Amino acid sequence: RESVETLVNRLSETVRDYPQPGVVFRDLTPVFADGEALHAVVHALIDPFQGQFDAVAGVEARGFLLSAAAAYASGTGVVTVRKKGKLPRKTISEDYTLEYGTATLEIHADDLLPGSRVLILDDVLATGGTLGAACRLFERAGVQVAGFGVVLELSALRGRSALAGHRIRSLVRE
Ligand code: PRP
Ligand code: HPA
Repeated sequence: RESVETLVNRLSETVRDYPQPGVVFRDLTPVFADGEALHAVVHALIDPFQGQFDAVAGVEARGFLLSAAAAYASGTGVVTVRKKGKLPRKTISEDYTLEYGTATLEIHADDLLPGSRVLILDDVLATGGTLGAACRLFERAGVQVAGFGVVLELSALRGRSALAGHRIRSLVRE
């Protein structure tokens, strides 16, 4: 049986100069498209945090796929961390920079109860700008961040240092 790391390495693709020249883009959509790999990835992300979170959050857009599956597998609810302007009610916003631009993320102010614990998932940890902003959003709402889970960590971009003080589970590092 293949390890989760072997599955991710075999199925993921690399695209040069996407979404702009100079960026080497790692595409995990074929990992999500494979039933065995999706199952293995989701369980590998939640297992180390069992009993330590009350909800799962996913970052738009690819993080949504992981977070819904992880919440279902762990019997919790799921909430979305969205790009600016997508949520209809009262929001909290955080600006951030990423490898190829700047953006704003939002959650609903009342998505989770103050004092509850959230596990935040995404496909890729690059500079850490995205997950850092997601973390600040929940902390401003009084929600405790139980940790982060990502399928792929691009170590050269030093995302871990942007998330200092939190547990990070990454399945593949390169
Ligand atoms: C990608 C990826 C992460 C983020 C990682 O999403 O899915 O969310 O960038 O980069 P960082 O660690 O440097 O912040 P992207 O912003 O491209 O959005 P998308 O999923 O909506 O395409
Ligand atoms: N792949 C997916 N998302 C990303 C990447 C990447 O290579 N870099 C920053 N966000």
